[in-house]
Amino acid sequence: MAPSITETTHETHQVSHETPSKVESLKPTEKATPLVKPLKYSGSLDEYKSFDVTNVIGREFPEARLLDILKDDEKIRDLAITVSQRGVVFFRNQDITVEDQKILGQKLGELTGKPASSKLHRHALLNSKRGLTVDENGKQLDDEISVISSQQFQKFYKERFSPRTRRIASEGWHADITFENVPSDYAILKIHTLPDDVGGDTLWASGYEVYDRLSPTWQKIAEGLTATHQNPEFQRVSTEHGVDLIAEDRGSPENKGLEFSAQHPVVRTNPVTGWKSIFGAGHQIAHGHIDNVTERESELIKAYFLELIAKNHDLQVRFKWNKNDVAIWDNRSVFHTATNDYDGKRQGNRVVSIGEKPYFDPNSVSRREALFGTA
Ligand code: SIN
Repeated sequence: MAPSITETTHETHQVSHETPSKVESLKPTEKATPLVKPLKYSGSLDEYKSFDVTNVIGREFPEARLLDILKDDEKIRDLAITVSQRGVVFFRNQDITVEDQKILGQKLGELTGKPASSKLHRHALLNSKRGLTVDENGKQLDDEISVISSQQFQKFYKERFSPRTRRIASEGWHADITFENVPSDYAILKIHTLPDDVGGDTLWASGYEVYDRLSPTWQKIAEGLTATHQNPEFQRVSTEHGVDLIAEDRGSPENKGLEFSAQHPVVRTNPVTGWKSIFGAGHQIAHGHIDNVTERESELIKAYFLELIAKNHDLQVRFKWNKNDVAIWDNRSVFHTATNDYDGKRQGNRVVSIGEKPYFDPNSVSRREALFGTA
């Protein structure tokens, strides 16, 4: 069995996110402490066949079995590093249960240094209170699984999730649960029920590459900005449909209340890669704003960042699901959007794990700088 992370802490110099340059003593599990140095991939996944789906984002392991990877902490840690570097990683036809999915979700972050207080997210709306089961026998309810159900989305969000919508599809680009004070690091989605017509692909876009598309002047401006992320939709759904929301401990003691609003840096450093990514963009700030600028400036910045995500198809990857395929992504550095173009029923189970409090480290580098030595 490979050594666990606690035995291989050579890269775990830690800094406080409030004062990113101040090195503190090594106590990996005590607080939200990002890693100073990027983590190094050990090579333990090289035994599995894999290919990059595009140059910028996405890697597929067409034959690997997640249950096999789950037995070995070194492989899980390498998987986390691969996901953080490639943005999203795909596995075909997996037999993992929701319990396995939850263990993997928690370990991806734990083995790459997330705070001890960060657990699995309990979604305010997509939880067991909706009565949707996470198993094939129609019995098991679980707050730590967000059931992704087309039927429920069409009920709660109507036109936005209808194949006959007249809305602009690109408004769907988002990262998960950024309205939380301590948002997600990794998400794992397994789709077990596919529409019997066709469609339902998911797309991901690289936030690293969005940052690299900015001019150096705009990169500096963006690095000084914060944004307010907001989700007023849960309150509307709660009122219109008479459903209760989870108001307590949604995976971190800091994730509570019914405001669903949080302020985060617009450029975020990913502690696993050490790379800068645009984070304050997309649907998660559609109802929010860029802080400390005029309303019009906020609108223009939001529109420009969304344009960079949605119109640069060379920083996107599109995944066509087969039954029981699994996607694992890093919510700190990618945006994603579902495609609501089908009539049939589509359903899956998503585990969203909570990471560190977002921070910007001025000493971090862009992905292009790290990989090619120049932006
Ligand atoms: C999600 O937004 O996390 C779900 C994506 C999908 O349903 O394809």
